Amino acid sequence: MSSTDLAIQNTTFAKDIQEGLSKSPKELSSKYFYDAEGDRLFQEIMNMPEYYLTDAEFEILSTYKDEILQLMEGVPFEMLELGAGDGTKTKILLEHFLDQQADFRYRPIDISQNALDGLVGDLKKAWPSLNVSEVQGDYFKALNKMKLEASAVKLVLFMGATIGNFTRAEALQFLKKLREELNPSDYLLVGFDLKKNPQTILDAYNDPAGITASFNLNLLHRINRELDANFEVDQFQHWENYNPITGETKSYIVSKVEQEVHIAAIDQSFHFDAWEAIYVELSLKYSKEEIDQLASEAGFTVIRNFYDDKKYFADSLWQAK
Ligand code: AVJ
Repeated sequence: MSSTDLAIQNTTFAKDIQEGLSKSPKELSSKYFYDAEGDRLFQEIMNMPEYYLTDAEFEILSTYKDEILQLMEGVPFEMLELGAGDGTKTKILLEHFLDQQADFRYRPIDISQNALDGLVGDLKKAWPSLNVSEVQGDYFKALNKMKLEASAVKLVLFMGATIGNFTRAEALQFLKKLREELNPSDYLLVGFDLKKNPQTILDAYNDPAGITASFNLNLLHRINRELDANFEVDQFQHWENYNPITGETKSYIVSKVEQEVHIAAIDQSFHFDAWEAIYVELSLKYSKEEIDQLASEAGFTVIRNFYDDKKYFADSLWQAK
C-alpha cells in the first residue's frame, strides 16, 4: 500500500472511530478488528474447541466437495472467492478439483494485496499446476470486470459466516448487488451459521480462555497505537449476548468504571459512564427459512443446502436465476 493510501485509510479509520464514539449508544465496527494482532487472534479463535463454525464448515466441504464439483457439469468454470483469508477451507475444494482434473481457475478477491500475495504464493508452492490469479480490490468492481470479460460459468464463494456481520437489511442489499454482477447460470456458495442451542452459540463467542475477549479488546489497543489514544484496556471488559428469536449475537466492550479517554490524533476526549457499553459486533444466526427468504428476496434460487452432521452450519448453494 502506498503512503497516500495509508494516510487515506487512516483518516477513514479516525473518522469512523470519532463518529462511533460520539453516538449514543456508542458503536464501533468489527471490520476494524483485523490488524496484524487481530488476524492472529482470529486464527486462535478458529482453533478453539468452542468455535464450532470452523470445524462444521470444514466437514461440509470435505463431505460435499464432489457434489459441488458435479454441479459444474464438467464445463470450464471460474471459482471466485470473496475475502479469501488464508484459504484453509478453500484448499479442500481446490485439492479435490485438481485431483479430478477439473477445468477451472481460482480467483481470490480481496481488498488486501498483502493477504492475496501470501495466499497465492502458498497455493503455487503447494500445487504448481493450479490455475490461480488474484483480483485485488472492491468485490463489486472485481465481479463487474469479470462479468464483462469472462464467458465461463462462475462459482462465487462467500464462506465462513462473514455474512453474519451484516444486518438482515445489509445482507439483502449486498446480495442484490452481487446478483447484478452475475449471469443467470452462475452459482453462489454462501456460509450461514445456524440457530441452535443458545449456550453453544454463547460459548463460541465467550470462551473460558478469554481469547474472544482479547480479540475484541484488541480494537482498543489498535486505537491506542494508530490514533495515539490512551484507553486503559484493563478498565474495559468483553460482554456477549445472544437473542434466540432474532438470532442476533452481539459483542460489546463495557467500561468497568467512569472514565475519560483521549484520542490525540483527533484531539478529542470521550466520556464513559461506569458500565457504559460500546456495541462492536453482530454475528447473525439464521434458520433454514430465513436463508430461503433471503435468497428469494435477493433474486437467487436455492439449489441445495449443505449441512454438517450436527446441523450447526449451512453452506447454501444458490443460482442467480
Ligand atoms: C469472521 C465474522 C465469521 O462472527 O463468527 C469470531 C468473527 N468474532 N469470534 C464471526 C468472530 C468473534 C466471525 N466472522
